[in-house]
Amino acid sequence: MTTQVKKICCLGAGYVGGPTCAVIAHKCPHIQVTIVDLNETRINAWNSDNLPIYEPGLDKIVFDRRGKNLFFTTEVDKAINEADLIFVSVNTPTKKAGMGAGYAADLAYIESATRQIAEVARSSKIVVEKSTVPCRTAESMRTILEANSHDDIRFDILSNPEFLAEGTAINDLLYPDRVLIGGLQTPEGFKAQQALAEIYEQWVPKDKIITTNLWSSELSKLAANALLAQRISSINALSAICEATGADIDEVAYACGRDSRIGPKFLKASVGFGGSCFQKDILNLVYLSEQLNLPEVAAYWKQVVDLNEYQKKRFVSRIIKTLFNTITNKRIAVLGFAFKKDTGDTRESAAITLCKDFIQENARIYIYDPKVSEQQIFYDLSGPEVTYDIKDLKKRVTIVQSAYEASANADAIVVATEWDEFKELDFERIYKSMNKPAFIFDGRLILDAEKLKSIGFRVHTIGRANF
Ligand code: UDX
Ligand code: UDX
Ligand code: ADP
Repeated sequence: MTTQVKKICCLGAGYVGGPTCAVIAHKCPHIQVTIVDLNETRINAWNSDNLPIYEPGLDKIVFDRRGKNLFFTTEVDKAINEADLIFVSVNTPTKKAGMGAGYAADLAYIESATRQIAEVARSSKIVVEKSTVPCRTAESMRTILEANSHDDIRFDILSNPEFLAEGTAINDLLYPDRVLIGGLQTPEGFKAQQALAEIYEQWVPKDKIITTNLWSSELSKLAANALLAQRISSINALSAICEATGADIDEVAYACGRDSRIGPKFLKASVGFGGSCFQKDILNLVYLSEQLNLPEVAAYWKQVVDLNEYQKKRFVSRIIKTLFNTITNKRIAVLGFAFKKDTGDTRESAAITLCKDFIQENARIYIYDPKVSEQQIFYDLSGPEVTYDIKDLKKRVTIVQSAYEASANADAIVVATEWDEFKELDFERIYKSMNKPAFIFDGRLILDAEKLKSIGFRVHTIGRANF
């Protein structure tokens, strides 16, 4: 007999914990799901009409289940105590100082969440590691839990990494390619795996639920992100060759992707990948490889991140060179600030690097993004590492409410995020409102270059030559 899970608690109401547990509540009305966070503002937002994260389809599910079998609260201890199964979905940022700074994950939040579970639990729990973590973190969690367990209380630990992508989170959760559940290869471990599998089986076909040992599960998450990012760096490396030779990266990607061994997905050249996962997870893998005394492996993966940085810098250089080698006091419209479309998230967004470089070169930038707030943009452009004077930021950067406003009197438009609405813009109107010659730099290959050229624009697209 497996334990039937009746109450779930999720520690961490972020991008992963929030949508994942909302979907569980939606698909399992017989299970009570309580999502907790230390951050009261965030919890209040989850309990309001204005959810703290934007994901298509999320509102509907949350509004439908909230107050029935889905709860958001800051009462962490109570929720831990009531639950049979606890998802640990707290943040694991890259370490800023100390050993492994810049590479290793900071596991302080995971550790304190684990200690809290150990301290307050009055009954047995299945503890599920959901945050992306370096390989063997579950072992540390297990050590802490076991050292603190009382007589009749046992803790079973599972690794159940989340593969959702932002912007498509709900769809990815409803129709996952696979669900991965890692556990200890012991009778108790198998039982715990089974208990979690039964939850997913409410809506995921059984053959898509994969069970592995703990370490395979943890490594698979890092590996999947590393492989995906590697494809983007590979196509971006080829985009540089295209720009230098006259080949067209979209044509190359299409031709390669038609090989069923390669496949068509994740081959879109861009100004560089962003998001909270790719860079962080690869750097984690690099750190892990170094720790394991595998420097060649570390160097291999590190190159994926290095190429991504190169791609962003290459795009900036192309823009400056094209604008007659100076952008001082030129007006640049930046369309899009999120790291990809359909999300308001800006973590590691390529737009941040572009804008910082433009500011550094004394340009005046006008930024429009349909989902990112002005406050967030100024926050992202004021990091401690910037070399320009933060006091001047508001003089250099203006946040506007439409692509038309951003483009008026601009010398150049830079497309940094592939929002669908940018494809539908009235470019005749935009052209008329701009300084001439009017330049467009398409960092996402979403615009119809030929049509823009016929209007009069000078068009520069990633992965296409201009000769
Ligand atoms: C390759 C390409 O597949 C083919 O499309 C191109 O036209 C010529 O080059 P080939 O070299 O004949 O074909 O063999 P392939 O099956 O691709 O294998 C190449 C090498 O990779 C072999 O040594 C194979 O053992 C190895 N390999 C392949 C792996 O180690 N792992 C794999 O998953 C696949
Ligand atoms: C990623 C993984 O896809 C997901 O499985 C994992 O759980 C978390 O990390 P996410 O970061 O939300 O998800 O977005 P994703 O769609 O993977 O895009 C990441 C970045 O790569 C974006 O900046 C995107 O614009 C870029 N990208 C993606 C490309 O430049 N080209 C592509 O072909 C695909
Ligand atoms: P992710 O993208 O992985 O979901 P986020 O940073 O969006 O990460 O969310 C993680 C959340 O976890 C944050 O809102 C943070 O306040 C919360 N958190 C961190 N430690 C704890 C803890 N011990 N108990 C509850 N919540 C926590």
